[in-house]
Amino acid sequence: DFHPLVRADAGPDTGLDAGEVGPEEVTFPEGFRWGSSTSAFQTETGNTQTDWGKWVTMQGKIKDAATPDKGGPDALNHIDDDVRALKDSGQNAYRFSMEWARLYPTLADLNAGKANAAAVAKYTELLDKLRAANIHPLVTLQHFSLPSYVSDPTKPSDPQGWERPETKELFAKYCGLVAGLFKNKVDEWITINEPVVVALNGYVAGAAPPGRLLETNRAFAVARAEARAHALAYDAIHREDTVDADGDGQSALVSIAQNMETFHPKVEGDAADIQGAKHIAYIWNWWFVNAVVKGDWDDDFDEKYDGPNDKRADLSLVKRLDWLGINYYTDILVSTHDGISIPGVGVSIVPQPLPTNRHKTDFAWDIHPEGIRDVLVQANAYGLPIAITENGLADASDKNRARFITEHLYQAGWAIQNGVQLRGYYYWSLMDNFEWDSGYCPKFGLYAVGDGGARTQRGSVATYRSIIDAKKVRRD
Ligand code: NOJ
Repeated sequence: DFHPLVRADAGPDTGLDAGEVGPEEVTFPEGFRWGSSTSAFQTETGNTQTDWGKWVTMQGKIKDAATPDKGGPDALNHIDDDVRALKDSGQNAYRFSMEWARLYPTLADLNAGKANAAAVAKYTELLDKLRAANIHPLVTLQHFSLPSYVSDPTKPSDPQGWERPETKELFAKYCGLVAGLFKNKVDEWITINEPVVVALNGYVAGAAPPGRLLETNRAFAVARAEARAHALAYDAIHREDTVDADGDGQSALVSIAQNMETFHPKVEGDAADIQGAKHIAYIWNWWFVNAVVKGDWDDDFDEKYDGPNDKRADLSLVKRLDWLGINYYTDILVSTHDGISIPGVGVSIVPQPLPTNRHKTDFAWDIHPEGIRDVLVQANAYGLPIAITENGLADASDKNRARFITEHLYQAGWAIQNGVQLRGYYYWSLMDNFEWDSGYCPKFGLYAVGDGGARTQRGSVATYRSIIDAKKVRRD
């Protein structure tokens, strides 16, 4: 008998009192994971045989026609530099992704289970050097890019990527193979990064391959396919990885990295805007997690919960998360009257920069530290361990980064004090990297990347380091 724990009508009102004064000091437990995140396509070179690899060569898709192959961190040729950067900043954990097309360049390789030896050697080197430095690896198996044999944006007439029925099985096969290859070195996995963002960017915003515009129903079909692919991959990883790699009594722990923001009505007290904010929060934050935790998805988004799937729990999906990864960045204002409308969803998003008096990032995102506690307290209802798998800001001047990290960690620590099972925090990103359609303009890094890939520590890193050393944050 399943009942959704987090319902649409739980919305953005968590019972958190915005005006409430928090504890003087929050502390973090022993064993807390202090890290940062990257992804393969954004930091490696040579991932040309992927949908994103082709996308970046297409006219007008990327700001300043930037590509990861020129002027980026070239991570696989700077492994020592990155491990040193993690060490120098006091971190004990690193989230990075492996590139599917690098490990299995052709469909024949994948079908034969024959991994590319050079790729395996590189990821092995990274994992071994992290381990030697006592840095815990968290590996993402798919972070936005897909092999060309699964998704090719230059062939717009075919169904691509997650829309192809065979992609789910191919993905699960890839995940099982990688779990088999690295099970002695990795015990924490993320299958898919930001599945809902993938669907909406690819099929509504047109900002990512395959570049469809305003096709909301297709986007939701894609998200459903991703949920099924995740469930198959979850099972494949658990079939392979039953080994306690690092002797901590634990074999594979599998999650997703779910995009989560807070959503508030543009007009405070406006009943329609409040309902709209709850509706979007449900789609953006909770729907996918409900699917892979409880087998509960509401196909028509009508929010009338007669029960999971309006009928019964889908048992091929249920309980396919061992923990929950959350990427949190900002607050979004929702309106039913004006803004950027999302067809088929019935509400609009207020374009950034928002008309608020909060500090903004270089990306024009509102800095809203209370939101991290808000999503953590809500997500805790699933009863799973949680990690913040991304949180960060674009800030070329480094003026706001130290305060950003301090305030978000204060709120995260407060959430722990409120009973949230938060086990780790991964800042996005370790170093400046290729920010998708925005190219190299936004600077998210703890480290700047210069000529030849040289890493330079930003001043704010000292603040992150001192919080890690003290394991506590004081209220300002
Ligand atoms: C989320 C994505 O996972 C990551 O790839 C991206 O760079 C950051 N957000 C910042 O936009």
